[in-house]
Amino acid sequence: MEHKVTIINPPQSFVVQENETILEAAIRAGVSLNYGCSSGTCGLCKVQVSSGNVKEVKAREYVIPEAEKLQHYILACICAPQQDLVIDAAVAVTSADIPEQALSVKVRKVERLSSQVLKLLVQTPRTKRLRFLAGQYLQVSIPKFSPSYFSIASCPCEDRLIELHLRVTQNDPVSLQVADKVRLGDSIDLCGPFGDFTYDENANRPVVLFAFDTGFAAIKSLLEHITAQEQELPIHLIWMSCGEDGLYMHNLCRSWEDAFDGFTYHGVALNQSLQQLAANSQQSCATVENYLLETMHNLTDLSCHDIYVCAPEPAVEIFKKVCLQKNMLERRFFSEPVRGNEDMSCIVSLN
Ligand code: FES
Repeated sequence: MEHKVTIINPPQSFVVQENETILEAAIRAGVSLNYGCSSGTCGLCKVQVSSGNVKEVKAREYVIPEAEKLQHYILACICAPQQDLVIDAAVAVTSADIPEQALSVKVRKVERLSSQVLKLLVQTPRTKRLRFLAGQYLQVSIPKFSPSYFSIASCPCEDRLIELHLRVTQNDPVSLQVADKVRLGDSIDLCGPFGDFTYDENANRPVVLFAFDTGFAAIKSLLEHITAQEQELPIHLIWMSCGEDGLYMHNLCRSWEDAFDGFTYHGVALNQSLQQLAANSQQSCATVENYLLETMHNLTDLSCHDIYVCAPEPAVEIFKKVCLQKNMLERRFFSEPVRGNEDMSCIVSLN
């Protein structure tokens, strides 16, 4: 039997299924409760129950002080509701609410998404998860090589699984190692999360997402987080790349159109390489702008929208210019550079 959990401040609610703990349900619903070990050891997931009853369904080592027990404090990672609950809990809303963490993770999958892009799927230990907000990025280290930074491509709701998209380049030793040497079960060190390119949970406004090339990673994380919350907001996704190969998850984006009401997707594959774009910067800017104007012709008024962009700086500026022409509020425009992709540096000279 499922039960509803309501958080007092900030007001949020989620449903806990049969056999789930409060923490597991919160993570699945994209609600960022404070936690650490998720196994009853650290006490970081302590919340105060204002109404309703819970049952401890897992063992715990952490001892809740008597005074706190009397005030109805419980551990969210080991308790399941017995009826609908109202709780007082610490919820991360901005990047400032999430501490920097360092942990070693195991490689679970390396998948070639295109001729130049790899998907790296890693799993955190059961007793040390990574807390992050959708849209943030990580430092990835492999012994003996200088670290690289990559946006997280998965949603916090995936819990222990973390997805990264790596463009394999000579300039990035981590991507080369992952492409050639890293095997399933190997350990990789992560540090983070970093960055404040995160979703404004309180906005409740239609969303326009724009990704360029592997900037799709951060945008995918945001999108999966928004849809996990079942807010039913109109979402428009525009993904632009150099060549068809650059839209390396095109079919996934198209499947979201069937899965989510109010979701639209436009994939724009430019028929020029990054090098060609960079060689003629003025013409390239005009090309990108024209494609955007064409793709966004149905979005006539963006005064009610929030805009999230992960792209190289020149593409961010072009997109911003187009959005301003459509009445976008400048303070509702959020941007992030493409991480871990040295090849994109050539487009930075576009202006
Ligand atoms: S997260 Fe550590 S005790 Fe619950």
